[in-house]
Amino acid sequence: MSTIGIIGGAGWLAGALLRPALAKSMVRAEDVILSSRRTAVAGFDAWPGIRTTSDNAELAAKSDIVILSVRPDDLSGVEADLSGKLVISVMARMPGSEISKRFGCDRLVRTMPNASAEFGQSFTPWHASPNVTSADKAFVASFFGASGIAREVPNEPDIDYFTGLTGSGFAFPALMARAMIEHAIENGVAPDLADVAVRQLMLGAGTYVSVSKENAAEIVKTFVDYGGTTSAGLTAMIERDSDGVVKAGLDAAWQRALGN
Ligand SMILES: NC(=O)c1ccc[n+]([C@@H]2O[C@H](COP(=O)([O-])OP(=O)(O)OC[C@H]3O[C@@H](n4cnc5c(N)ncnc54)[C@H](OP(=O)(O)O)[C@@H]3O)[C@@H](O)[C@H]2O)c1
Repeated sequence: MSTIGIIGGAGWLAGALLRPALAKSMVRAEDVILSSRRTAVAGFDAWPGIRTTSDNAELAAKSDIVILSVRPDDLSGVEADLSGKLVISVMARMPGSEISKRFGCDRLVRTMPNASAEFGQSFTPWHASPNVTSADKAFVASFFGASGIAREVPNEPDIDYFTGLTGSGFAFPALMARAMIEHAIENGVAPDLADVAVRQLMLGAGTYVSVSKENAAEIVKTFVDYGGTTSAGLTAMIERDSDGVVKAGLDAAWQRALGN
């Protein structure tokens, strides 16, 4: 069994990815090493076999697979020789060429999970550099598959695009939920009632959109064509360029992912 080291292992995303993989026995606790500069690594009481260190060089020496999960601005503080390892980056805004040059690795996978990984509902695109082996790819598919749907994408720039589209996780849908709750309160609904109502609405909507035979455009058309109150609401939103607002937000996130 390969040893997996996670640099930044005390962080939010590292835990959100690792706990489902451990719970589904995709990895064994005794094969995992986590590093952090100063924070105690919490959240793994159920897996006491996990090792921790503050020394990234030690983690690298003991690991066959190294996952980079520090914030982009912290990468310059990571000292490790990752030559000969499978290196997996979950980092936004960090091109593969920079990672390979800095750490001397030639088997690199860039991925972009999101925070829904914790409850097994991330969408995680991944891109492999040419030297990544089929065994490496099988590990990536299995590890990230434990926390959602993992799909290989053909080009590295796809990862930068998906950083905006799905890397933001539930944040963009939460913006719509916020507006709906505010509208309900402004129109006399008690805040706790508005909150529970919209939470349930988002759950039902997410479930329906994910399982429906109709795609999103077809669902919208069905309701517009039906001609009732929902149609009135959708038409008003579309006429005020709801699509344009969403696309402007995605453009801004994409540009940020590209470092612009
Ligand atoms: N959160 C998300 O939803 C999300 C989604 C997609 C991608 N990402 C990417 O995932 C990466 C991690 O994000 P996050 O949200 O998990 O951030 P985070 O919670 O701040 O975790 C980063 C961890 O890195 C550790 N760290 C920093 N420098 C280190 C070093 N030199 N050696 C070892 N550990 C170090 C920090 O702990 P210490 O301060 O104790 O060292 C911290 O626990 C980022 O690059 C981000 O772009 C995040």
